[in-house]
Amino acid sequence: MKMKQKIAAAVLAAAMAMSATACGSAGGASSVGAENSAAGKTITVGVAQLVTHPSLDASLKGFQQALTDAGYLEGQNVVYDVQNAQGEQANCVTIANTLANKKPDLILAIGTPAAQAVAKVITDTPILITAITDPADAKLVASNEKPGGNVSGTSDKTPVKEQLEMLKTLAPNLETVGFLYSSSETNSKLQIEWAKAACDELGLKYKEFTASNSNEVQQVTQSMVGKVQGVYIPTDNLMATNMKNVTAVTSANKLPVVPGAIGMVTDGGTCTVGLNYDKLGYQTGQMAVKVLKGEAKVGDMPIEYQDQLDVFYNSEAAAKMGLVLPESITKNGQDALASAASSQK
Ligand code: TRP
Repeated sequence: MKMKQKIAAAVLAAAMAMSATACGSAGGASSVGAENSAAGKTITVGVAQLVTHPSLDASLKGFQQALTDAGYLEGQNVVYDVQNAQGEQANCVTIANTLANKKPDLILAIGTPAAQAVAKVITDTPILITAITDPADAKLVASNEKPGGNVSGTSDKTPVKEQLEMLKTLAPNLETVGFLYSSSETNSKLQIEWAKAACDELGLKYKEFTASNSNEVQQVTQSMVGKVQGVYIPTDNLMATNMKNVTAVTSANKLPVVPGAIGMVTDGGTCTVGLNYDKLGYQTGQMAVKVLKGEAKVGDMPIEYQDQLDVFYNSEAAAKMGLVLPESITKNGQDALASAASSQK
């Protein structure tokens, strides 16, 4: 009961902290009527997606749903030119150059490295960004409040402290947390700074473990064994793509893993409290609709956040390491493997 209250309090606190910085509404029906859309012209939306993993896929789906709801119907008056960089930085640059040549009406960039590549070469087309940890920190906008240029969109600012509190609840013997992330993602470096501050507040020690490419992930994960009692992974694209390799090692060594995003729980993480990328994508789509209809200029739109947080756990991953999940988590959360969860990534 005590732990239940703790998690409930953590979730509430996270929701409040996030809403304090929220600038816009989170999802919901659009007020834009279909009759006003596109006026017979077919709109092209170029999409630069960094890699395929549940969170980024959900963001794109949510974005497209918002356009559909506003009367931009795929194949009728909107065409999506979806480019996926397969997690490769070099491909991001190629995609950015391709989109610069094709000159779509609007660009959606998903994931920090993809957005950075696109924003660098394209300055005359509106670029909406989504699932970006901190657009200003990634130098995508002059400031999150006043972007100024041709880029705006949504941040998936992670409730890092609440997630580390959850790890503490999960692993009562937790002394040292292992931070596992990619050395080349600015989004991860920033979250690790937040995680260090949170550990200091929570009285936890930490050790950092970084990989620079997929080939290193398993070995780096292995090197944590014996040094830490729990693992924290931020919303790191390299780790998200390699979650199954990570959790093969952590499960075998009975190390609980709290990742930054719900989709990473689906892929083998133990549990987390995270945001809904479908909704974040939808919110970004609503911003795009305003731009497409000439109602707003990207540079004038502040970066928006999302305040809904959900608790998710992976019963199978917990069982594999003989971990009994606290009731606080199973009662308040949803099993990420249940089909009802499939739209919540
Ligand atoms: N926030 C990440 C970025 O800025 C992208 C991201 C969103 C992500 N959700 C994720 C990465 C889940 C890994 C796992 O690039």
